Amino acid sequence: MDKIKIKGGKSLEGKIYISGAKNAALPLICASLLTDETVTLTNMPMLSDIKAMNALLEQLGTKIDEFDDFVDGHSTKTYSYRTKEATSLTAPYDYVRKMRASYYVLGPLLARYGKCELSLPGGCAIGARPMDIHLNSLEQMGANIEIKNGYIYASVEKRLKGAHIIFPLVSVGATCNILMAAVLAEGRTILENAAKEPEISDLAHLLNKMGAKIDGIGTSILTIEGVDKLNGATHKVIADRIEAGSYAVAAAITRGCIELVNALPFTLKRPLHILRDMGVKITENGNSITIDARGCTLIGKDIMTEPFPGFPTDLQAQFLALMLTADGASMVTETIFENRFMHVPELLRMGANINVHGHASAIVRGVKRLSGAQVMATDLRASFALILAGLVAEGETIVNRVYHLDRGYERLEEKLRGVGADIERIKESDEE
Ligand code: EPZ
Repeated sequence: MDKIKIKGGKSLEGKIYISGAKNAALPLICASLLTDETVTLTNMPMLSDIKAMNALLEQLGTKIDEFDDFVDGHSTKTYSYRTKEATSLTAPYDYVRKMRASYYVLGPLLARYGKCELSLPGGCAIGARPMDIHLNSLEQMGANIEIKNGYIYASVEKRLKGAHIIFPLVSVGATCNILMAAVLAEGRTILENAAKEPEISDLAHLLNKMGAKIDGIGTSILTIEGVDKLNGATHKVIADRIEAGSYAVAAAITRGCIELVNALPFTLKRPLHILRDMGVKITENGNSITIDARGCTLIGKDIMTEPFPGFPTDLQAQFLALMLTADGASMVTETIFENRFMHVPELLRMGANINVHGHASAIVRGVKRLSGAQVMATDLRASFALILAGLVAEGETIVNRVYHLDRGYERLEEKLRGVGADIERIKESDEE
């Protein structure tokens, strides 16, 4: 397995291009299953999760074409997807265990073909992550759901029916899945307490381009008038707010200055507010955000994760790392997932001062210095937090299990090297 080696202590300066969002691209790819025409997605990030989703769709019978592209000043990928007729309606265990987001095929396949068999994703490193809300909602739309041998067998006679669904809690995945199911259902569906993440709005915009009738985009109540058929469309994937937020922290933690090009300030209001409160200078200019922490003494602030527009759980680990370099104490509270402090024991090995209380909160005290170490994390964002700590630690940090980072950070070492970091990938084959 590859590793990343960092020599800490460089203040990062320059520009970083922000890629298309992984968590938007994954449901957008699955939306292509709703039509027999071609759906083209531009500004696609080059990530292992995208490859994994593409492999799953190919297995279902989708024809995929890949093109090199140049969008807003940086090289990217465009993919076109055409599922003239699905050749399989099963998402097998081997695909789903590698990537939970495989469950996004459920809503579209059930809506278009009246049937889907999906391996039930298990829990994962950050929590139990059940699918009960997805399945209860589909049952309210007339689906029969059976769970047997680790698989969900979902079917519907004729067609899904519109329903008034009130989600018991805010779920990004359930909102996307049910939205994709509802666009081809018979009649009107109302989704209350829907998640409002920008990635969901991006999905709704693509679906409307395909001929869906969705109202209330960006709010917690989505109203969908089902249509009989959807057409093809072309869509540019929204910028990755979590990638942008992660590099914003890279600028702040190294007391550097980075311009995040193609980042969308409205998707990052809460994290940018926290950075400003800590003492970082931030300039927003259209689709660019400059994070300037040169010469700053930062003050620790409390953060609590919440559904959008609150502080994102996917930036909790990175901000926790930042608080280690700030004056005073900060309380970090995680309300979305029950096991999302796995970065803490590894940060402690680098000299951090953090006390975790139960599963939900951590008190972080600023320390004078962190020291480089061999570390590893069990999820994507926790792994990035270790990279951040490595950027300011004295000496050398080796981050193991790099495949987590490859799932969600496009060309990570190249982007960080471009702003002056001393970082390199050690390929498994380079090792003795
Ligand atoms: C999405 O996961 C993201 N993944 C996650 O990003 C992100 O952390 C999360 O939303 C929250 O923002 C993708 O978009 C592919 P949820 P998702 O359903 O949809 C509970 C990353 O690092 N729940 O909003 O799985 C659930 O257990 C990843 O990029 C149920 O109880 O999250 C959790 O506690 C990690 N029953 C809470 O809701 C259900 O049926 C929110 O989960 C569904 C969810």
